[in-house]
Amino acid sequence: MTTAHMTTAHTVHDLRAQVMQWKRDGLRVAMVPTMGALHDGHLSLVRAARAACDRVVVSIFVNPIQFDDAADLAAYPRTLDADAALLRGAGVDVLYAPSAAEMYPPGFATTIRVRGVSEGLCGGARPGHFDGVATVVCKLLMQALADCAFFGEKDFQQVHVVRRMVTDLNLPVEIVTCPTRREDDGLAMSSRNRRLSAEGRARARILPQVLTQCAERIAAGDDLDTALQQARDALIAAGFTSVDYLELRDARDLAPVTTTPTAPARLLAAAWLESVRLIDGVDVGV
Ligand code: PAF
Repeated sequence: MTTAHMTTAHTVHDLRAQVMQWKRDGLRVAMVPTMGALHDGHLSLVRAARAACDRVVVSIFVNPIQFDDAADLAAYPRTLDADAALLRGAGVDVLYAPSAAEMYPPGFATTIRVRGVSEGLCGGARPGHFDGVATVVCKLLMQALADCAFFGEKDFQQVHVVRRMVTDLNLPVEIVTCPTRREDDGLAMSSRNRRLSAEGRARARILPQVLTQCAERIAAGDDLDTALQQARDALIAAGFTSVDYLELRDARDLAPVTTTPTAPARLLAAAWLESVRLIDGVDVGV
């Protein structure tokens, strides 16, 4: 369904004025935080948000404080006009696109650090990344006074970090997660995929294939360390330049799993292909 009525807010003041009006009218407000370069994974979050709430705010903000590498921040795709057209077509009510100065004005001095679940995995490979994520997500949720917020399961560790923060800080928002959306060949949708060459893009499908095969071996009771190491080796053999991690974690709390799992587990990986860092994860059946 489309609406011609999407508006764009660039400041906390303008966003709040709109949301406060909705709240006075008794409407429930959903937020979908994004960094733009939108794809159908994001739009699936928007569809879920529309189904659950009366009004939907989507934020587009390439958050500088969650990048540990200036080159990665500079290379992050910025496609605001195309994104706005997609969101208008998806029936979004407000696009919130603050500037960096609006989010982090001079003197800004607060960091939210979620211990435990933000350590290791992407947190190990990208120091400070989840401090930046937690800080900006907390700000966005409070700026939008959101009743619900929607996140994709592809960023599995991020979901744990956000849930822990919301619980610990008693934020009055419900966190909803949606399954990873995949391309026809199985590659998890990601804004980073568009940075791959045609050859790299064709090769990238190996990542979900290797993870799925490894998860099946683990579920069948194969030796865990052997299965994990052979999966890492398979990625390198397929042309990935390095593997930041490929690990099995408890799906409920991200605790390391060191033997054949007896509770829901998730196989998680981050690997580099053509200077692009791809992440993915699959469930391991028990
Ligand atoms: O997943 C993302 O795109 C970002 O980490 C988020 C949640 C929008 C925070 O900047």
